[in-house]
Amino acid sequence: MRFVDLRGDIYLYCGDLPSQRRDYTRLNFIGLSLTKSDTLHIRHNVAHKIELCDDSVTIVQSEDVFEHIEYNQLPSCIDEIYRVLKPGGLLRISVPDYRCDVLERRSYKDSDGKIYYDPGGGGAFDYLNHQVTDGGHVWFPRYEMVRELLSSSKFEVARFLHYYDSSDDPIMNPIDYSLGYISRTPDHDDRVSRPRRPMSIVVDCWKKYSTELAGVTKGMLVDQLDSFLELYDRRPIKDNEGGMRSPHMFAIYFMLRHLDKKFIIESGVWKGQSTWLIEQACPRATVISIDPNLHYRSYISQRVHYESKDFSQLDLPRKYGVDPAATVCFFDDHQNALHRIQFAIKHGYRYLIFEDNYPPGKGDCLSVKKLLAQHDDAAKYLIEHLKVYYEFPPVYRREITRWNTPWVYPTKQPLLTEVTAKYRIFDDEATSYTWIAYIELK
Ligand SMILES: C[S@@+](CC[C@H](N)C(=O)[O-])C[C@H]1O[C@@H](n2cnc3c(N)ncnc32)[C@H](O)[C@@H]1O
Repeated sequence: MRFVDLRGDIYLYCGDLPSQRRDYTRLNFIGLSLTKSDTLHIRHNVAHKIELCDDSVTIVQSEDVFEHIEYNQLPSCIDEIYRVLKPGGLLRISVPDYRCDVLERRSYKDSDGKIYYDPGGGGAFDYLNHQVTDGGHVWFPRYEMVRELLSSSKFEVARFLHYYDSSDDPIMNPIDYSLGYISRTPDHDDRVSRPRRPMSIVVDCWKKYSTELAGVTKGMLVDQLDSFLELYDRRPIKDNEGGMRSPHMFAIYFMLRHLDKKFIIESGVWKGQSTWLIEQACPRATVISIDPNLHYRSYISQRVHYESKDFSQLDLPRKYGVDPAATVCFFDDHQNALHRIQFAIKHGYRYLIFEDNYPPGKGDCLSVKKLLAQHDDAAKYLIEHLKVYYEFPPVYRREITRWNTPWVYPTKQPLLTEVTAKYRIFDDEATSYTWIAYIELK
């Protein structure tokens, strides 16, 4: 096997890969081996350049490998893995934790108690030159050293799952082994199962999500403006005060048609204008529209299923046969976006659109745009789960915002710059734009 032979989703495992390893994850991991080249392995030294394009690999797992590579060589090695990972991709690292009693006890220490050789890690110790030789562990990982390595890397999120912290306290967060099986944890290694304690420092490093919608170009968006306007001219509600206007209606029209899913859940109906658009844009989809105040509707569809309980209170798969994996959820309900995303993750909904995507300091609800600007645990949680965060561009952009302030918010380039009579409505309603965004979860 060679790098050029890899097809489809690529999963790389640093080192030799026992064949049953694939069964634990059901992912087609390919080993990067120093010695083997066969159907399961590419001969490759992970300290060297990987002959793959940028953004091409879904997961790289490095289990008990980095401690065999000189610490000062690791930053470039990690940068190279970052380069080949797809946006939203994962580097799962596990290295022995030398705060673990099992490893600490078996290692040789100098008069200051500093470990200089671990015979359990293989290789030999050359006393003349005072160095580990023949492929043994050349450094002895502890939390602070791995944290230092990763904080200077390009990875946006490094989630430490198992380790002993600086006070020697054991930390064990749940590990999702379906993303990469790890042998030396209390779940799989009896030496540390009673009592359960960490043996490896396990870290999931996530590359940032994509900000583009795959396959969509600006030209494709501009091309759809005319067919949208033709339809929009026939809208049932001429004054949709309190609801969406042309810039976001166009976004919904384009994205729903592009995603082309079997089910569409709309949360936030108001007078029913967006329900009408959804039906028109995707006539074959099953639509469920939710609003606690359905009495505001002036457009009522005969084909749509209406519900007045909150989305999180409904069992739509049972009631309507909704398949979450074939569903787009469109939220225009001014609710907390983090709660919506947590619910979606729990129930397997992966394709979400958020209308009220206000920037920090604006709007009446916690939006995804605000969350991502927070750089806190909630933002990290989101980044770990995000594959795509795509802000649909405005059609026109004014210099002054709806809040009568200069436009300081990061925003994609508008689709059009010169205002013409044909597209005037997009300019008239330009300040109704609030960074409507599509989100794809992993
Ligand atoms: C901005 S309006 C929706 C506009 C509509 N999408 C349109 O453009 O024509 C917001 C709506 O969210 C509804 N809403 C409030 N809480 C909700 C919830 N928990 N679930 C669903 N809808 C909710 C309100 O009753 C209101 O009708």
